[in-house]
Amino acid sequence: VKDGFDTFMEKEIHEQPKAVADTLLGRHDEDGNLVLDELRVDESVLRTVDKIIVVACGTAAYAGHVTKYAVEHWCRIPVEVELAHEFRYRDPVVDVRTLVVAISQSGETMDTLMAIRHAREQGAKVLAIVNTHGSTIARESDAVLYTHAGPEVAVASTKAFLSQITACYLLGLYLSQLRGYKYPDEVAGYLDELGRLPEKIQQVLDAEGHVKDVARAMKDTDAVLFLGRHVGYPVALEGALKLKELAYIHAEGFAAGELKHGPIALIEPGRDVFVIVPTPRRPLLHNKVVSNIQEIRARGARTLVIAEEGDDSIDQWAEVIFRVPRTPTLMMPLVTVVPLQIFACALAAAKGLDVDQPRNLAKSVTVE
Ligand code: BG6
Repeated sequence: VKDGFDTFMEKEIHEQPKAVADTLLGRHDEDGNLVLDELRVDESVLRTVDKIIVVACGTAAYAGHVTKYAVEHWCRIPVEVELAHEFRYRDPVVDVRTLVVAISQSGETMDTLMAIRHAREQGAKVLAIVNTHGSTIARESDAVLYTHAGPEVAVASTKAFLSQITACYLLGLYLSQLRGYKYPDEVAGYLDELGRLPEKIQQVLDAEGHVKDVARAMKDTDAVLFLGRHVGYPVALEGALKLKELAYIHAEGFAAGELKHGPIALIEPGRDVFVIVPTPRRPLLHNKVVSNIQEIRARGARTLVIAEEGDDSIDQWAEVIFRVPRTPTLMMPLVTVVPLQIFACALAAAKGLDVDQPRNLAKSVTVE
């Protein structure tokens, strides 16, 4: 069942190239046009949507957070991302021109289900991005775009996360196609780039030995910080969540720009800090994160840096470097999160913990 892996989680981490490839399969024609006939929502509705609200919990919410950067850029529609349980119990501004996108691996998360019921009562259309066919959230939504990650058994989500981002990106490109592209060339290019991701993810997996060695050597650490900027920010949040869930280590993710507004007080000699570095081809983003690394290093902390191949600007500041292939900024989360998953999994295993069934957690939380 585990295909030779010790745990389901390792198996699922290694299935990620396939999860992304399968989610892309059959959803565009040879000319690069998105074909999402499976969405049963009227095209006129999608053309007139003036706001998108993503509702989800846990890892699925971070997939939504990543999506905001891409969809706002491609479609010029404001995208809000809300934890489903917070959305449900405030008084959100939702009407017939709002598209609520519910993201859920299981399709059974009660918080997310209650949020979509509330949204539909207010007249919003609900589109679900769900992995489990026939699940309650799929049935109660106006439209469904299935992720094709295959069954995910480990409680901590990995391949579902990558396939959720992929499906959300397909939706974003589709909306852009329907509504008249703002950046036509860029959008066609992104579809190509999505197609190249399975191979790039595989390259990151092929280098897992280094990540595992670093993780094993850190098994006694008691706190780890994660910093990222732009799409690296939700990746930092997800890296911290994985480490909490699996290894029971206090881990916190921050937006790198926020460092000087508070978290820098936590930086001290010996502190372990992961930093996700944007591609140097986006110098405005890149330079700011490199300065953060210098500030952290100057205060004696250990920096574990995830950076693109060939980016040597960080070499002298990083204690440890995990390399990812050259990837456009918006696609980077699909490669940069992978070392963080492997790290959390290997560290938890080194502590002798149950990686597939961490304490106190359930795969699908069916109570509010
Ligand atoms: C949590 C799971 O309780 O629910 C997480 O432990 C998951 O791994 C979250 O991300 C949301 O679940 P779902 O099924 O709605 O994606």
